[in-house]
Amino acid sequence: MNILILGSGGREHALAWKLSQSSRPLKLFTAPGNPGTAMLGVNLPVDPLDFSAVRSAILEHKIGMVVVGPEAPLVEGITDYLEADPELASVAVIGPGRGGAMLEGSKDFAKGFMKRHGIPTAAYETFRADTIAEAVRFMSTLAPPYVLKADGLAAGKGVLIISDPDEAALELKAMLGGRFGKAGSKVVIEQYLSGIEMSAFIVTDGISYKLLPEAKDYKRIGEGDTGKNTGGMGAVSPVPFATPGFMRKVEDKVIRPTVEGLRDEGIEYRGFIFFGLMNVDGEPYVIEYNARLGDPESEVILPRIESDLYDLLEGVARRDLSSRTLMTSHDSAVTVMMVSGGYPDAYPKGVEITGLDLITGSTVFHAGTAERDGRIVTSGGRVLSVTSRGETMEEALEKSYRTVSGIRFEGVNYRKDIGFDLKTSKR
Ligand code: AMP
Ligand code: GLY
Repeated sequence: MNILILGSGGREHALAWKLSQSSRPLKLFTAPGNPGTAMLGVNLPVDPLDFSAVRSAILEHKIGMVVVGPEAPLVEGITDYLEADPELASVAVIGPGRGGAMLEGSKDFAKGFMKRHGIPTAAYETFRADTIAEAVRFMSTLAPPYVLKADGLAAGKGVLIISDPDEAALELKAMLGGRFGKAGSKVVIEQYLSGIEMSAFIVTDGISYKLLPEAKDYKRIGEGDTGKNTGGMGAVSPVPFATPGFMRKVEDKVIRPTVEGLRDEGIEYRGFIFFGLMNVDGEPYVIEYNARLGDPESEVILPRIESDLYDLLEGVARRDLSSRTLMTSHDSAVTVMMVSGGYPDAYPKGVEITGLDLITGSTVFHAGTAERDGRIVTSGGRVLSVTSRGETMEEALEKSYRTVSGIRFEGVNYRKDIGFDLKTSKR
């Protein structure tokens, strides 16, 4: 079976890495991929948003399964596009169609969906440019801080949390006035939830689902969760407060109603769902849905899956996921993201990375790298995701930090406190 993974980050390298361990004879292609995926298969110079180029690559390389990594092609409808093509009738696509991807592509849709299916989430209202006055009035009925969310995809920058009511009103007007373009033509205003965050993941064939290992990511650039938001500076799995009792609530109150709700609404969903959750006094609330796996969460959850990932994906494609088995390991996995100096603001690219040939005790996933004249250089803000496993989170962290200290590039930055708020990963 020839498999095409779409995307170019650490998540896609981790997917390729996990699939490369399958007992089945798989040939892996990644588009556009990175130097990490190039070690495991063939990189194709194809943009995942150029659907007709993806189609041509599928035909040329006799691809039997496409795994869509990032959200943009899903929200743009790549799955519908490929599935509607009679020449691609035998090709399985892992990732929802546009309808299912709306869970991530429209905050208003996601909130309405949760309301319709009784899924716990923060109270909210949605406003448009012509209802600014009502929006300001609604905000004044809430206690600060105020949570403002642009409806559409905004590259992780569409959520504002503001304490000062005047500043919040100004930001709200700017959002509805076009600051985020089309993504901000609607704005969700919601109640602030106080608690501790974690993420749950499933893979589903639209009928049943498998609960994948959970994770906690560290989004802020600075130690102690300070400074600007990033794509993610590190992650750990398992999450100590995600006890079996809490996870049962997550399945009963969030996951099952979501999978059943999609089915009830006639949305065929085949792929991954990422549930961003807030644990509020032991009760799960949904902060957001994503229609894909997370990055860097993939770099800790995929290593903890002991089963053959291809077998699960085949179960998704054939709608017989319930007959497949998912085994997860009891150890701990952590990842530490090495980022370019300056990130998440402007940063240099093309900086040479050394020490990659001397890795022991960790797996290094490429996130933002490129090959130039046989050398590996930086090409993005998040550069390398250094994953390790151990009996405990502390042991795994020690390995990752040891590996990090052996990899060098000018300006490198990383958080030295991943997992700082979690005492131990032993449950
Ligand atoms: P999102 O893009 O929806 O994940 O939001 C980005 C971040 O904002 C989340 O990871 C949370 O830390 C925070 N956030 C979003 N919604 C809320 C809320 N209702 N209450 C508290 N924090 C929130
Ligand atoms: N790490 C958060 C995300 O993938 O959206």
